[in-house]
Amino acid sequence: MVMQKMQMGVDGPNCSRIIAGFWRLKHWNMSVNSLLDFVHGCLHLGVSTLDHADIYGDYTCERIFGEAVSGGSAKIPGSMRSQMQIVTKCGIGLQHSQTRPGIHHQHYNTDADYVVGAAEASLKHLRTDYIDVLLIHRPDALMNADETARAFEQLHKEGKVRFFGVSNFSPSQLSLLQSRLPFPLVANQVECSVMHIDPLHDGTLDQCQEKRIAPMAWSPLAGGRLFSEHNEQAARLREVLAAIGEETGGYTADQVALAWLLRHPSGIFPVIGTGKTGRVRSAASALDISLSREQWYRIWSASTGTGVP
Ligand SMILES: NC(=O)c1ccc[n+]([C@@H]2O[C@H](COP(=O)([O-])OP(=O)(O)OC[C@H]3O[C@@H](n4cnc5c(N)ncnc54)[C@H](OP(=O)(O)O)[C@@H]3O)[C@@H](O)[C@H]2O)c1
Repeated sequence: MVMQKMQMGVDGPNCSRIIAGFWRLKHWNMSVNSLLDFVHGCLHLGVSTLDHADIYGDYTCERIFGEAVSGGSAKIPGSMRSQMQIVTKCGIGLQHSQTRPGIHHQHYNTDADYVVGAAEASLKHLRTDYIDVLLIHRPDALMNADETARAFEQLHKEGKVRFFGVSNFSPSQLSLLQSRLPFPLVANQVECSVMHIDPLHDGTLDQCQEKRIAPMAWSPLAGGRLFSEHNEQAARLREVLAAIGEETGGYTADQVALAWLLRHPSGIFPVIGTGKTGRVRSAASALDISLSREQWYRIWSASTGTGVP
């Protein structure tokens, strides 16, 4: 199994089709050595694109990652840094933060100074000279697209960020920001899984395909609820995914759930959230599954609980 790499966007970075997400890093409670082993394991499997956000772990995950992967040095060693693509996000002010106690009400911020400052803080915490892809984490009702675009242009000109994207943006929100930028956005990271198929039908994936913007699917296994939830949708899906896993050559339900995303013509990059190398390996093998149209629509029906009209 060789991990497929695919370009994000029109002229974006080459990224691994399966991306490893570090939202849950703090809960993994790993020693520095275990975290380093996990990152080496991802890279060894070809899962070279690593997804972060400044807020993860109450603004601590980037630092935990940077300290471990740099081996305590000022920077991640060049030989290792060149093997990975780092995605991170900014734009959320977390309330009840222990590390930033000055924030009293949850809010979003896409002002130019804020975005530049947040990206510079991420560079410091991640111990790197550049971010491969910076995303605005959530749409900000107060976003002044000229300002946010100015921040992107500055970060790009200074070599601090190579490519830009958004997360959880509607098509019109993405178009607005794009209209003020001299370069194309490369990604929109949205919630998408067999349990959450809205992006298929609300125009998000249509826009990605139309503009050749990479959709990144967060919680591609519904955050584990696909396996733990006791509702009808999850039960239906588990049954159909297991059956199709058998039909396609002995794959597991989680692998088929990822293959279902990978089959979409917009070129989805699933962002998995496990902290276990074995599960990353299993996810990587999802690329070996090829689903027929009938199998794909059987999963769609299990998700919606309806027949295909
Ligand atoms: N842009 C955004 O707004 C946004 C929002 C949320 C997340 N994200 C990104 O998306 C990434 C992934 O999100 P996620 O963690 O929710 O993804 P996920 O892969 O859907 O869920 C991961 C969870 O499912 C569990 N799991 C995985 N395989 C399993 C299996 N076969 N059986 C039972 N449990 C299983 C994992 O447990 P183990 O660790 O024990 O394997 C983990 O707790 C995050 O790390 C973050 O980078 C972005």
